[in-house]
Amino acid sequence: MQIWPHKHIHTLANFSIQDYESVFELANRFDALKNAGTKKIPALQGTLVTSLFFEASTRTKNSFELAAKRLSADVQTFAPSSSSLTKGETIIDTAITYSAMGADTLVIRHSSSYITFEIAKKLDAINSKTSVLNAGDGLHSHPSQGLLDIYTLIKFFSRKSLSPKVLNSKKILIIGDVNHSRVARSNLWALSAFGADIILCGPKTLIPDELINFLKTPAPNQTEDPIKSRGSITISRSLEESIKIADAIIVLRIQKERMMENLLSSIDSYSLDYGLTAEKLSLNSKEIPILHPGPINRGIEISSKVVDEYPNCLINNQVANGIPIRMALLYLLQKSNK
Ligand code: CP
Repeated sequence: MQIWPHKHIHTLANFSIQDYESVFELANRFDALKNAGTKKIPALQGTLVTSLFFEASTRTKNSFELAAKRLSADVQTFAPSSSSLTKGETIIDTAITYSAMGADTLVIRHSSSYITFEIAKKLDAINSKTSVLNAGDGLHSHPSQGLLDIYTLIKFFSRKSLSPKVLNSKKILIIGDVNHSRVARSNLWALSAFGADIILCGPKTLIPDELINFLKTPAPNQTEDPIKSRGSITISRSLEESIKIADAIIVLRIQKERMMENLLSSIDSYSLDYGLTAEKLSLNSKEIPILHPGPINRGIEISSKVVDEYPNCLINNQVANGIPIRMALLYLLQKSNK
C-alpha cells in the first residue's frame, strides 16, 4: 500500500485512483475482520481522535467515533453549547486548543464551506502534527460520505472481489437539491473518477445548468486534476425518463427552507415531480440500487414504500459501510507522513 499522501482530508477533488483504492482496500479488510468476529483492533492505540461537530449529525459523528473506538484510539467529543465558544472563543482557537491537548486527528463538521482549509492552514503554520478530516463543511464537501456511497455501490456491483472498475460507464442518477448538497459534490468527484456517467435530475432552481461544468472546479491550491479521464455529467428535468436508463439512484434530502428561499413553489409539487416512488421505479426493468445519505424525509423525496420494501434500497448498508470507511480514513491519516 502507498504511503498516504494527504496530511488533511478536505475534499475528494484531489484524490487519485490510488488514494481511493487504498481507502477501499483497508475498509474491505476492516469489514472482513468484523465479519470474522474481530470488531476491535489495536491499530490506533495511544492516539487521540477528537470530534468537533459545530452542526447536528447522527450518522457521521457517531460512526467516526465508533470507527475510532474500533481502532482502539482515545475519543474526545466536543459539545459546542457547553464549550467556551459560548464565551466568544473562535472556531480556529478551539481547534488549536484541542491540537495542543494532543489530538492526532480533528474530525470537523461546520456550516461554513472551506472552513477546514482555514483550520488546517493555521495548525500547519504553528507546526502542529494534527490532521484535519472534513466531516461536512457548508455546501462544499463531505468526503467520507462520498467514499462510503461509492464503496456501497462498488460492493453491490462487484461479483467476486471488490473492484471499483465496476462503476465504469454505469449511469448513476442523482435526484434533488444538488446545488445545496455537499454530499452530491463529493459523489460527483468520486463517481466520475471511476468513469461513471452521472445524470443530475431536478428543477432548474436546485440544479442550475452551470453544474454541468462542476468537474472543472479544482480544490483551493490544487493545480491539476489527479484523474486523467472522468465520467460525464448531464442534466435532466424529467425523472421518469432518467429512471428508465439509470443503473443506480442516489436521492438527496430536500431541505424545507428551500421553499422560503423561493426555490420551490411547494413541497407537494416537488414530491409529485421528483419524489421517488415505487410506481416511478417500476419504469426501470431492473431492480437497481437506491441510496440516500440520510436523514430522509419520508413521503417528500422518497416514499416509505421504497425505503422499507424495495429490495435494493441500500440506505442501511450505507450507514454500516460508513464505519469501515471511516476506520480506513482515520488509520491512513495516522500513518501519513506528518
Ligand atoms: N449523511 C449525513 O451526513 O448524516 P448526518 O447529518 O446524520 O451525519
